[in-house]
Amino acid sequence: MKIYKINYLLILGVLLFSYNATSAQQEQDIEDRITKIITKMTLEQKIGQLSLRGTSSRTKVLPEELKQDVRDGKVGAFLNVMKVDYVDELQKIAIEESPLGVPLIFSRDIIHGFKTIFPIPIGIAASWDKETAKTSARISAIEGSSYGIRWTFAPMLDIARDSRWGRIAESPGEDPYLASVLAKGYVEGFQTDNLTNPTSMAACAKHFIGYGAAIGGRDYNTAIIHEPLLRNVYLKPFEAALSSGVQTIMTSFNEVNGVPASGNKWLLTDVLRDEMNFDGFVVSDWNSVTEMINHGYAKDEKQAADLAVNAGLDMEMTSKSYEFYVKELIKEGKVKEDQIDFLVRNILRVKFKLGLFEKPYRSKTHTGDLYSEEHLTKAKTAAIKSTVLLKNESVLPLKMSAKIALIGPLANAPREQLGTWTFDGEKEHSVTPLKTFKDKRVSFKFSKGLSYSRDKSTGGFEAAIEAAKVSDVIVFIAGEEAILSGEAHSRANINLPGKQEELIKILAKTGKPIILVIMAGRPITITNIIDDVDAVLMAWHPGTMAGPAIYDILFGKKEPLGRLPVTWPKTAGQLPLFYNHKNTGRPSDAESFVQIDDIPVGAWQSSLGNTTHYLDAGFTPHFPFGYGLGYTTFKLEHLRLSKTEITESEELEVFVSLTNTGESAGEEVVQLYLQDKVGSLTRPVRQLRRFKRVRLNSGETRIVKFIINRKDLEFVNNSLKPVIEKGEFNVYVGQNSVSGLVKGFVLK
Ligand code: NOJ
Repeated sequence: MKIYKINYLLILGVLLFSYNATSAQQEQDIEDRITKIITKMTLEQKIGQLSLRGTSSRTKVLPEELKQDVRDGKVGAFLNVMKVDYVDELQKIAIEESPLGVPLIFSRDIIHGFKTIFPIPIGIAASWDKETAKTSARISAIEGSSYGIRWTFAPMLDIARDSRWGRIAESPGEDPYLASVLAKGYVEGFQTDNLTNPTSMAACAKHFIGYGAAIGGRDYNTAIIHEPLLRNVYLKPFEAALSSGVQTIMTSFNEVNGVPASGNKWLLTDVLRDEMNFDGFVVSDWNSVTEMINHGYAKDEKQAADLAVNAGLDMEMTSKSYEFYVKELIKEGKVKEDQIDFLVRNILRVKFKLGLFEKPYRSKTHTGDLYSEEHLTKAKTAAIKSTVLLKNESVLPLKMSAKIALIGPLANAPREQLGTWTFDGEKEHSVTPLKTFKDKRVSFKFSKGLSYSRDKSTGGFEAAIEAAKVSDVIVFIAGEEAILSGEAHSRANINLPGKQEELIKILAKTGKPIILVIMAGRPITITNIIDDVDAVLMAWHPGTMAGPAIYDILFGKKEPLGRLPVTWPKTAGQLPLFYNHKNTGRPSDAESFVQIDDIPVGAWQSSLGNTTHYLDAGFTPHFPFGYGLGYTTFKLEHLRLSKTEITESEELEVFVSLTNTGESAGEEVVQLYLQDKVGSLTRPVRQLRRFKRVRLNSGETRIVKFIINRKDLEFVNNSLKPVIEKGEFNVYVGQNSVSGLVKGFVLK
């Protein structure tokens, strides 16, 4: 037995060694080939590789000038070339007519689906499921690569703590651990384990960094993030993407602590290259190099190019400061040619890894299986996994025989249900709730009530009320149009726009139960109407298959499986709001809190509880991070730790018993949070460290086990060192970020 074991280990060792040797050899071959190319390149051709040019999807004729630039080797990559013939033509010119035949790389924002649209990323985040992120990325890549696109500008990994920010729709939510899990799923899905596979795409982790920390949630706004916070929170998902081999990184539009990301040498060179060992390439965001002039960081385009090159930014998106000024900067000695060689090398390396030198052309037999049955089914499953049940006064699931009034501006809005960043998904393929109800022969009356989410006309109210009166239950599909979230689409108020609240209140007077389904790009404040409705389902913008997913959930064919990836506010005035906040010196508490209406007139200033809260909005969110109901109930009991004291090198095992106490089978997301009670830098009240989806039959019990290790206890301190500090910790295991069982341990 022992001998077998030794032999086995030996063989494994030899295999591993030869595998490492081959991949090291392959990497060296690539570097050698790059060196050969760079040696032959003129300075203009090198600068050409650093240029990402855009065409518009609507381009009717490829401009001659553009073709000539490719011929002259002045372009390294394209974005948004959406006619496959143009992709083919441009690549042919690059390969056959440009001086060194360096292939182009074609890119596009394929964020949550190409043709088959998956839920928006905040929806995917609500699935709390790496596989869902991976599947959405995989199918996006399969479909998109059939158009010759081998590089996508996803995943967006910006931690978002403010739901006013329009781009929260594209974000992985507020938590660095959850975002890191998703980051890995996305990168694996886009890139696979074989980048040369013609259905693989280079992923792009964006936006580096702090874009989601825009003050006030106003897009592009200044971010102020002290370095330990940057490292403990904002950088985490990027580290995860890098560990999964992400090939490209996009800088963010914003400045962090006074320095715009695209000209930030500390960020792009010291942190990204030197500390994190990134060996792919960094692309700017759209014009973000020359926008450093608006930031007041560069006086003109030439200085912008100087700053960006010296920061280590490899490829410039759309603006042309490199093309216009790098030559001059070299002449003036501000930039060295070998710096440019380094940037070119980073870009060529990714082109080699994608196999573009061997196979530059789009495979004509690769159809992408656009909208195939398989893709649509997966998009539907993802939508079910993303939908979060926020309230249910025993109205859901519905009986098949229920007579339904289907009302609301999003009930039949094929474009809107797709959400932001869906340049290629066609609304003609969207299956809306209305269409599904018809296809499934649900007994229902449809009356939209309002034509679109911002509609302020009451013209449709009468008919909606009539439909409600003759029905057993109202399904009101509310929300925001796709255009109300996404880039530059921040809102100061995040309630249901238009007259949706008013219509819901009027419908409530009919006495019929209301199921509110929300399709939106962000959490929507619903405090005004929560008491008027009997159930609330948050579907985000669910994508092509919104209708079938919502139908299955409403009628109990499937359970809503989502959990909130962001804290849900009662009012926009509470924002930014996030669960992993600090305790403060005067933590809020229910006992001393006096609500604004209960303050006696003429009350003495210090007669109210002096804790951190709002007099009017209190101190709790409407729904906490991690929250979500299902169609059954669960109970957690008997939290047990393997030890009460550990050393740094020891692992801690955590056990908890989970029982399905309801009538039907169902799934729970068991969440483990840690609290480091005392730190040299104050620590968050809780931090998510593990979670597990567990499926149990009614009455079934299972012991769920987690393992915590030293990495989970680590944080970057004020001296910017990763440290683990001895002392007391709490382990919370619960169904969301504020409830649960707790047990303490000591790190010796
Ligand atoms: C600007 C956006 O910020 C970025 O996310 C996107 O990838 C680029 N434009 C390209 O469209």
